[in-house]
Amino acid sequence: GTTVADDSNQKQQQLDQYRVDSTNTRYTTDQGVRIDDTDNSLSIGERGPTILEDFHLREKVMRFDHERIPERVVHARGSGAHGVFQVYESLAEYTCADFLSDPSLVTPVFVRFSTVAGSRGSADTVRDVRGFATKFFTRQGNYDLVGNNFPVFFVQDAIKFADFVHSVKPEPHNEIPQAQSAHDTLWDFVQLQPETMHTIMWLMSDRAIPRSFRMMQGFGVHTFRLVNAEGRGTFVKFHWRPKLGTHSLVWDEVLRIQGNDPDFNRRDLWEAIASGQYPEWELGLQLVPEADEHKFDFDLLDPTKIIPEEEVPLRMVGKMTLNRNPDNFFAETEQIAFCTANVVPGIDFTNDPLLQGRNFSYLDTQLLRLGGPNFQQIPINRPVAPVHNDNRDGFHQHMIHTSHTSYSKNSISGGCPATGVLAGDMNGVFRHYTERVEGEKIRKRSPSFGDHYSQATLFWNSMSPWEKEHIVKAFLFELGHVERRYIKEQVVERLTNVDTGLAAHVAAGLGLPAPTARTTNHGKSSPALSQAGQPSGLAT
Ligand code: HEM
Repeated sequence: GTTVADDSNQKQQQLDQYRVDSTNTRYTTDQGVRIDDTDNSLSIGERGPTILEDFHLREKVMRFDHERIPERVVHARGSGAHGVFQVYESLAEYTCADFLSDPSLVTPVFVRFSTVAGSRGSADTVRDVRGFATKFFTRQGNYDLVGNNFPVFFVQDAIKFADFVHSVKPEPHNEIPQAQSAHDTLWDFVQLQPETMHTIMWLMSDRAIPRSFRMMQGFGVHTFRLVNAEGRGTFVKFHWRPKLGTHSLVWDEVLRIQGNDPDFNRRDLWEAIASGQYPEWELGLQLVPEADEHKFDFDLLDPTKIIPEEEVPLRMVGKMTLNRNPDNFFAETEQIAFCTANVVPGIDFTNDPLLQGRNFSYLDTQLLRLGGPNFQQIPINRPVAPVHNDNRDGFHQHMIHTSHTSYSKNSISGGCPATGVLAGDMNGVFRHYTERVEGEKIRKRSPSFGDHYSQATLFWNSMSPWEKEHIVKAFLFELGHVERRYIKEQVVERLTNVDTGLAAHVAAGLGLPAPTARTTNHGKSSPALSQAGQPSGLAT
């Protein structure tokens, strides 16, 4: 039997096979041929032309010319670390995932934190969402929890994702601004798509400028489904809670740190782990019985909504510790490939239309980013669970399959494990949750996705006076960079639906006319801002 320690080291042992230490070794070409001079190209005479037969020059130049691969289309800037996850007590009542049902199991993980909008070399401390992606190398296969540090998302449907990202990214004509939320296109998108309002409130809050990756919460965002051995489903929201607490920078610090140390968050994570200060997160679950699917005043399938913890409390079920820095940034942090569709037995999807699109998108982009269908064989991506199937060939195939057949089922060499000689063994098989679905083929969102403001208001009302002050200042900074006046006015109109007081402060700070008071403000009035929260004297 495997001991606990063996399991937690399994991924590391796998990676160890690929480690190359080139210190104090003899220099060779990629063909393993020793070279005595790597400073001078081969030429005719000391001052003559370089000649074509210089395979060493050719190889060295060629390899440099081909070093770059596409950066991630979003979340390009990131930092990663290895660690372990362990569940406190068995969750077998809810899920047949063994890493969640066996408290003696220590599962290796790799986590990548990221910003969203900036390019690979952009600064860490920008106002942005942070990615929080975890790959669990479980005995039943890889499970990816590809989350963010916000519990909600900007759009409800994956078909709008490219539009949203294009509005956030630098503008097409001049590639300005870098990693900033302060421009017309984002705010134009916001005013035209009111479903963004809840997440925009988070973006304007201090949650968008975390002090450290070690001090961030993480969220799976979507409602997922746990499935137990009997096939019973339970809705679930995933949360990561940092043991160090949740902490943010303030805007003045952000501006200074960007100049002093663009690697601020990356360095912090690296140095903490290098010095043995291992960051920890607890995994928390909000569990909703299927019978309660429709008991909320929002739709569980709507990724712009949280389930308030007053309604469904968080149950802390396990702990993750990050305890080892990568050996090589490119090999591990850059080449790791997360995908929401990477699930294991006991974890399944819901019909959240954002999630459904994500399941398609990650594999699609990685085929390009990582050069073809065999990217799962890149060491960091390999499951520790054995892989056996009839998938063959393709660019960068590393495996030497020795079977004389590559189709299932077959009578010659046994075929696939689940369909061949071991067909009787259905232990640990992934079975899609059985759900009855009926309806017309239709391009129309359910009216249950229609309330774009209540939870934005809830968020605002949950803020302390100084947090509100920071939010107002953030709106003034970001909207202050917007050139088109009508866009600012429209955003203020939207804010009126969140909170009339907030809208009034933002309008006054921007020098816009006071917005028209709304009766649609969910019957709530704005608690007054603190004295310091008055917009007078705030930069626009
Ligand atoms: C990358 C989270 C929505 C497409 C990422 C990453 C995270 C993330 C954490 C970085 C993964 C890494 O570190 O390598 C989320 C969350 C979403 C969301 C929490 C909403 C709840 C979407 C949607 C799409 C999408 C709707 C497309 C329809 C992508 C793509 C990448 C990415 C293409 C780059 C992946 C790669 O190159 O490996 N996302 N995302 N995301 N996301 Fe999302």
